[in-house]
Amino acid sequence: MSGTSRFMAALDGVSGLGAGFLAAKGGFKARLQAVLGSAAGQRNAMAVLRFAKPRLQLKQNLIKCYEGEGSLLVTHAADFHAVIERQAEFHVVYGPRMRMLTGGRDFFLGMQDGPDYRRDTDAMRAIVKPDDLVPVLAMARAEAADALAGKEVDLPPALSARIPALMVQQYFGVEMETDQLIADATVMFHFLFSDLDADPKISAAAMAAKDRVNAAIDASAASARPGTLLARAVEAGRAGSTAFDADGIRANIIGILIGAIPTLSKASCLAVEELLRRPKVLADARAVAQAGDEAKVADHLWEALRFNPVNPILYRRAAKATNIGDTEVAENTMVLAANLSAMFDEAVVETPTRFIAGRPWGVYALWGEGLHLCWGDRINKAILPAMLTPLLAKPGLRQLSAPDSEGTPFPRHYRLAWS
Ligand code: HEM
Repeated sequence: MSGTSRFMAALDGVSGLGAGFLAAKGGFKARLQAVLGSAAGQRNAMAVLRFAKPRLQLKQNLIKCYEGEGSLLVTHAADFHAVIERQAEFHVVYGPRMRMLTGGRDFFLGMQDGPDYRRDTDAMRAIVKPDDLVPVLAMARAEAADALAGKEVDLPPALSARIPALMVQQYFGVEMETDQLIADATVMFHFLFSDLDADPKISAAAMAAKDRVNAAIDASAASARPGTLLARAVEAGRAGSTAFDADGIRANIIGILIGAIPTLSKASCLAVEELLRRPKVLADARAVAQAGDEAKVADHLWEALRFNPVNPILYRRAAKATNIGDTEVAENTMVLAANLSAMFDEAVVETPTRFIAGRPWGVYALWGEGLHLCWGDRINKAILPAMLTPLLAKPGLRQLSAPDSEGTPFPRHYRLAWS
């Protein structure tokens, strides 16, 4: 059954790729890059792979910023989940670059499971209180209303990056000028996760950014405002928590700060862009947004992000020779586990190419899963609808120009207007 539906999806994928190629501009290479650089092109290519070559071995390591030998792209949902779940065999690779940003200390996203990982994640869990998000969400709603008081908005600087940056200042407790904080968090994120060609310019910019941000964390820790994560970390450190000695505070706070700003901003832009592509869905989203129903707005956002997630793949390195199904995986292979493809796998997702708001949460793999499930999971689920409900409520919402990333993977400008 899934064989037939995969075959039909592959045919649609081929025709979508062809149409995208013909519509793109430039020579062969430019057209290919344009097609495979777009979420629609990636969905089509992955539909073809799910049918024709669900485990695609390549000679080159596609993630040049981390050591590895060859790549294996897996596109079936079952393989995606297996790679992430089998974390003792498929290791996270980010450690070396994480340590360059912290000045030596590991941050838990770069660690394998074990006592250090548990020490830091337990300590970070212990400084979060159940009601922490109440003021954060109130701030997000008030800031969004302010940013949208006129007739147009440039989403990242006015809202989608600004609000997470204010969260970092007010809730995490890191005092730093807002635009610099956004720029620094974004380039460090780029360096850690998206610098696939290991560009020396990105490394240099990330090193300058980490110096500024680590200095800001140290200065803020010295006079931490009560109630902030930083103040609680300092207090726990004074009480003897080794997760929160001076190096630990810096590593843990810089880690969550990097994770928070570019991701939430990019997710906002991608979700809005995807909704604007679908007038009927946008009208549904507007109706629930105008009713102030953030939960229903959220259903639209998650479905929009399924079509265009912030991270379409997660990557891991095989710690030893192993197998995925009947495919042999050599030690050190960089395994690319395609969550975008898993969310469209006909074998497990009903009518995957239809936009259906309110699918079961289990369909979504928007910010990781398993051991390294995003630390911001709860924050994402609450703050994205809080930030975007007032925008989606606007009648006649339209984009004045496509998201502009200025050559980086992160939208810097996205101009929208309404009637
Ligand atoms: C929509 C926004 C977000 C997206 C798309 C996102 C994406 C992700 C992904 C894909 C992972 C797993 C990476 C892997 O397994 O290789 C992850 C982990 C993580 N994220 Fe997020 N994230 C978002 C928001 C946030 C926020 C708001 C924070 C901080 C408040 C944050 C902090 C982290 C941390 C600390 C981890 C590591 C968790 C661990 O290793 O246990 N993220 N995120």
